[in-house]
Amino acid sequence: MSELVHIGIVTVSDRATRGEYEDRGGPAIERELDRLLASPWQGHRVLVPDEQPQIERALIELCDDRGCALVVTTGGTGPSLRDVTPEATQAVCDRMMPGFGELMRAESLKVVPTAILSRQVAGLRRRSLIVNLPGNPSAIHDCLQAVFPAIPYCIDLLEGPWIDLDPEQCVAFRPKHAKRKSS
Ligand code: MTE
Repeated sequence: MSELVHIGIVTVSDRATRGEYEDRGGPAIERELDRLLASPWQGHRVLVPDEQPQIERALIELCDDRGCALVVTTGGTGPSLRDVTPEATQAVCDRMMPGFGELMRAESLKVVPTAILSRQVAGLRRRSLIVNLPGNPSAIHDCLQAVFPAIPYCIDLLEGPWIDLDPEQCVAFRPKHAKRKSS
C-alpha cells in the first residue's frame, strides 16, 4: 500500500482573500498535482493575504502540524511592494534549495520574458520541501513541470513518503539504488 502524501497548497493573494476575485491558483495547483502524481495524495488548501506573518503561520502549520512533505505556494513572488512570499518562505526554512528557483526561472524564461520578475525560492523546513510559484496559472504548470522530476528523490532524502509520478506526464529521476521503504 502506498503512503498517503500530504501536500500543502497556499494561495497568497490580497484580492482573492477579500473576495474580489476567485482563487484560481489553488485549483490550478490541484489540477497539476492530479496530472503529475500516481501516488495517492491529499491536498491541504489555504488562502492568505500578502502579509508575511500570515504566510509564515500557514507554512508552519502545514509543515509542522499537518505533516505535509511538500508545500506549494502561488503568488506574491514579484517585485510589487506587497510581494513577500519569498521572504516568508526563507524565514520559516532551515535550509534553502536555490536550484529550484534557478531552474523554474530558466524554464519560464523560454515562455515569458517577464520570468525574471519572479523572486520565487524553495527551501526545507525540517522534513518538508516548500516551493514558491508565481500566481499566473500557466506559470504554475511551467514551474511544476520543470521541478517535479527532482521532487520525489528530494522527499526520499528527507525520509518522507515515496512518491510515484505518472511517467506519461513527468519522469521522476532517482538514482538506481533508491529504494521504497518496505511497509
Ligand atoms: N513565469 C511563468 N512561467 N509564466 C508567467 O506568466 N509571470 C511573471 C513571473 N514568472 C510568469 C512567470 C510575472 S509577470 C511576474 S510579475 C512574476 O512571475 C511574479 O508573479 P507573482 O507576483 O504572481 O508571484
